[in-house]
Amino acid sequence: LFPRAKASSLTTMENDQEIVGSLKHQLAKLFEESLRLTVPEESDVDPAIAPCQNPRFGDYQCNNAMGLWSKVKGKGTQFRGPQPIGQAIMNNLPASEMIDSCSIAGPGFVNVVLSRHWIAKSIRKMLVDGIETWAPKLPVKRAVVDFSSPNIAKEMHVGHLRSTIIGDTLARMLEYSNVEVLRRNHVGDWGTQFGMLIEYLFEKFPSGEVANDQAIGDLEAFYKASKQRFDSDPDFKERAQRAVVSLQAGDEKYRKAWSQICEISRKGYEKVYERLGVHLEEKGESFYNPYIPGALELLSQQGLIEESEGARVIFIEGKNIPLIVVKRDGGYNYASTDLAALWYRLNEEKAEWIIYVTDVGQREHFEMFFTAAKRAGWLPAEDDKYPKASHVGFGLVLGEDGKRFRTRSTETVKLVDLLDEAKSKCKAALIERGKDKEWTEEELDKTAEAVGYGAVKYADLKNNRTTNYTFSFDQMLNDKGNTAVYLLYAHARICSIIRRSRKDIEELKKTGTLDLVHPDERTLGLHLLQFAEIVEEACTNLFPNLLCEYLYNLSEDFTRFYTNCQVVGSAEETSRLLLCEATAVVMRKCFHLLGITPVYKI
Ligand code: ARG
Repeated sequence: LFPRAKASSLTTMENDQEIVGSLKHQLAKLFEESLRLTVPEESDVDPAIAPCQNPRFGDYQCNNAMGLWSKVKGKGTQFRGPQPIGQAIMNNLPASEMIDSCSIAGPGFVNVVLSRHWIAKSIRKMLVDGIETWAPKLPVKRAVVDFSSPNIAKEMHVGHLRSTIIGDTLARMLEYSNVEVLRRNHVGDWGTQFGMLIEYLFEKFPSGEVANDQAIGDLEAFYKASKQRFDSDPDFKERAQRAVVSLQAGDEKYRKAWSQICEISRKGYEKVYERLGVHLEEKGESFYNPYIPGALELLSQQGLIEESEGARVIFIEGKNIPLIVVKRDGGYNYASTDLAALWYRLNEEKAEWIIYVTDVGQREHFEMFFTAAKRAGWLPAEDDKYPKASHVGFGLVLGEDGKRFRTRSTETVKLVDLLDEAKSKCKAALIERGKDKEWTEEELDKTAEAVGYGAVKYADLKNNRTTNYTFSFDQMLNDKGNTAVYLLYAHARICSIIRRSRKDIEELKKTGTLDLVHPDERTLGLHLLQFAEIVEEACTNLFPNLLCEYLYNLSEDFTRFYTNCQVVGSAEETSRLLLCEATAVVMRKCFHLLGITPVYKI
């Protein structure tokens, strides 16, 4: 439940500040000690710590008593039931400044009320030492996140946008948790479609004169035109099939044409990545091609590969169709490439966690080749052990008509157009509010970009990724409700409160004291402190929506505090300004992890 970090990962921070771990983690440590004293005969019991369902009882609770009772009863234990076990767990808790008071509820739940002084102290410490000290501790050092991964010569579509946005966030959360992340763009740059593309390129440019960006700039049209030739002209089809053979044999002319096509595609993707602020390293399917024979040989030696209807396949228990790894014509496919890539990532790149972000439609594919890898012993059979492979599936993007998201002019929505539209709508809204008279053109543009792109990302990330979601500019650009616009404005408002006080916040951080006297101050403070465990949960379970939910609730807690507690000009001004600053710091970290650029004024 609480993965223990390796000692080395505690000291990887540059400023040498110790990572304190989440609140839940710190409480777990105390209860671990108490459990050891309470039931010494049950050595490896993990503390079960959770936030209290009902805040009237406390902030957190320890739920171990019942489980322990069923383990020890009838074994000559001194305890008479779960309740006395809970009592003993409570009594054996080591003294700690974290805890204000404890109580027992029901069959031995230990409720904990945290000390508000400790909450305040922890926040003060974070303000001084930096939010990096709140990073979660994860049990892995290196991970691969395989995301975005469009297919060459086809336009990136809105499904790839989801993969790009979700994958980037997961990578960011892992990086924040001191995991080294290999951000892999597994582009579809290999396969039989290249025969037809190359042949069509030769046909259009018979002189061998290289096509420039302009000529095949619209790759989707190029792809369609060549597909049409392929389907309608048997001669062309035959030449295309021969072209694949020449390409795979390494014929220079064909390799060159192939890399030209890839290069033009790549330029198109990079424009999108640049706009989204997403960094990726391309290792496409072609990269793993040389590793396929070796990987299949390993599987073969273990007797996993069988002959079936002329193809070479791996049968997977519980699945009707086998995983084809060599096609009937002797060629490799998506699955053979993925097996080789997995082998490479585990053995050459030494990744301990490999995460694939694609639509849920590919779940079967991943399940099958993960199972094959488990049978081969490349991955442990148990899902909670490392190295681990995880498929992060996501649902469809729907239009407001409830159908798959499309625009009239193209079959799939072009990403660049979508981002342009978000930005220009935001810019129009800012102009309507008169910002063009207050701000420079550059400020206007930068803000419109931050809000527009942020809105597109947040609208995607806030949903449970496995469900479909409806793409609606009206909804995502609304400045009320759970949207990036609302959250970015909330952050800007906090910054303006601090500015209006005319206090030097850096100075206050050093000298000011923080106390959480008002109940709304305490609630906000506790919420801030829960940041680390939310990030930990979001990246352990691969659900970015948990972080969005946290951020939205945080801004609501802030609003309640700000409504009920005067900040500027009050007797508690210093303390409350520090609480404002801490909220802004945590909000900014959330934005950062979600790939959203914060704005400081509105
Ligand atoms: N290119 C694939 C697609 O567009 C996604 C690749 C995902 N990564 C992988 N290792 N299979 O559907």
